[in-house]
Amino acid sequence: MQIVFITGVSTGIGRDALHTLTQKGFFVIGTVRKQDEADSLNSLYASSARILKMDVRNQEEVLECVDSVRSLLNEYGLYALINNAGIAVPGPLQYLTDEEFADQMDVNVFSVRRITNILLPWLGADKAFKPGYIINISSVSGLFNAPYNGAYCISKHALESMTDVYRRELIQFGIRVTAIEPGPIKTAIWQKNKGALSRFSDTPYGPILAAADTMIEHSEKSGYDVSVISSLIFRILQNPKPKTRYLVHRKKIMFNLLAKWLPDTIVDKLVARSLAGGKKYRPV
Ligand SMILES: NC(=O)c1ccc[n+]([C@@H]2O[C@H](COP(=O)([O-])OP(=O)(O)OC[C@H]3O[C@@H](n4cnc5c(N)ncnc54)[C@H](OP(=O)(O)O)[C@@H]3O)[C@@H](O)[C@H]2O)c1
Repeated sequence: MQIVFITGVSTGIGRDALHTLTQKGFFVIGTVRKQDEADSLNSLYASSARILKMDVRNQEEVLECVDSVRSLLNEYGLYALINNAGIAVPGPLQYLTDEEFADQMDVNVFSVRRITNILLPWLGADKAFKPGYIINISSVSGLFNAPYNGAYCISKHALESMTDVYRRELIQFGIRVTAIEPGPIKTAIWQKNKGALSRFSDTPYGPILAAADTMIEHSEKSGYDVSVISSLIFRILQNPKPKTRYLVHRKKIMFNLLAKWLPDTIVDKLVARSLAGGKKYRPV
């Protein structure tokens, strides 16, 4: 049995990965935050998945969850870990509270390290188990720093670093570590952010953020279907030598130009022009 552990399978990318990977014959250990969601997914995927209730920020809960599947992991090892659970906390850096910023980092960065470290023995850091795969669901925001989405961009840049560091530290065990860097994907994350910027309307950023919801709608509409990411995850899990990172974007060359090739000063001017021209906000 090949076991894949996926965090955040209630909706979006995680949910579709649960569906696709169980269809392809993997056994999935998935996590959600609500017991009723765990119960209904457990009855839906009775023989092909085990869904556990877990908030990734809660070390005790994570340990309890892993304990509950310890015998499975001891028997089969872990073929792959997909660090998918994530949130976006949009807003100007100046006005985000310390708690909001910390929460963004906790879910998208600290928890990834917490869960990875707990599961590493079964991924092959203990040589009794075969080397597995770690796939971190990063973002184009791990490559490009968009204004008013700073906390999210900082968290995904940190996740990009973490991916590289783990990959290099885990070479000795043969564990493969990869980041997927999606542009917009049609998931619940967009609706969760709708209206979130209106609380900054009385700040100097108010006028710029006035078009936030329109931009959110546009990004969601133009996004890829989640199946694009699930298929990619499946392909990575079949590849003995996956790439270190996979950018998933409709306009790859344009994006690379902005994120990697053009000098910062030119990109700053393009961002300023875009903000002045009404394309005011693009989260995730
Ligand atoms: N959608 C995009 O355009 C896009 C683009 C680039 C990268 N990504 C990344 O893709 C990943 C999945 O996002 P998605 O788009 O599929 O969004 P989503 O539908 O909102 O899914 C996010 C998942 O993470 C879970 N989660 C959030 N906070 C958690 C916590 N504290 N503990 C445990 N689980 C938690 C959510 O559970 P609840 O339902 O309980 O909240 C949900 O299952 C994220 O890392 C996101 O940053 C998305």
